[in-house]
Amino acid sequence: MIRKCLFPAAGYGTRFLPATKAIPKEMLPVNTKPLIQYGVEEALEACCDTMAIVTGRGKRAIEDHFDISYELEHQLKSAKKEHLLKETIDVINNCAFTYIRQKEMKGLGHAILTGENLIGNEPFGVILADDLCINNNGKSVLGQMVDLYNRFKCPIVAIQEVESKDLDKYGVIDGVMLEDSIYEIKSMVEKPNPKDAPSNLAVIGRYILTPDIFPILYATTPDKRGEIQITDALNKYAKNNRVLAYVFKGTRYDCGSIDGFIKANVDLYNKMKA
Ligand code: UTP
Repeated sequence: MIRKCLFPAAGYGTRFLPATKAIPKEMLPVNTKPLIQYGVEEALEACCDTMAIVTGRGKRAIEDHFDISYELEHQLKSAKKEHLLKETIDVINNCAFTYIRQKEMKGLGHAILTGENLIGNEPFGVILADDLCINNNGKSVLGQMVDLYNRFKCPIVAIQEVESKDLDKYGVIDGVMLEDSIYEIKSMVEKPNPKDAPSNLAVIGRYILTPDIFPILYATTPDKRGEIQITDALNKYAKNNRVLAYVFKGTRYDCGSIDGFIKANVDLYNKMKA
């Protein structure tokens, strides 16, 4: 059973400065809903009941968002506008939120390691909320991965084919196809030069991990920029254990980039108006 979902949300979001100077990137709205709420709803759909959020300085808005707001709710009730907060209150009522602060921003791998206290000794999902995944009337992307975990009981990364010129922005897998949309990973490389990339299959912000990744993360040396990469840890893990890569069904928007964020807003707005 995957009950917990970890949300590394401590990054600086420098690509969105000055908007992210005092508010976290994960609170930027796509239409009217903050990115992190889409992520939490996806985890809820996948039957997770605990959202473990790794935050940093200046990220208190996330905790406030997932909390009740007496005055506002009272005000909305008097004005018969409760529907405006209904989705958010449903989320708050249907899961528990736990938080830990990453004291130094030492990369995604370090953020996941920081979450160890919240996760404990059980398999867990990871959602990077700035990768917005919309399932086109099917199961949520994390839900698809949980189904796969229940079959294979091993770590899984979500992958997507990307254009060769963009491969240097991602972790890229070298894998053997097991069945349609499922690869067994031989190795992974972080941000390769496109001409040396082992494939055009890039890892996006959804993972299922098992707790035996934590000791490996502890032992992973930081890269040139001083960051601990989850790709390096999974690469080590895959040498002796099975790690799967899954071509998910759905649409992913890279909302960590301006282009992806604007596209998500336009597409979801058009969908809402249709
Ligand atoms: P990114 O590199 O996309 O996020 O990290 P960033 O650093 O916030 O963005 P830019 O590049 O400066 O604009 C991917 C995810 O990992 C989290 C981020 O919050 C994001 O969800 N992260 C990254 C951490 O939680 N801690 C870190 O030290 C680094």
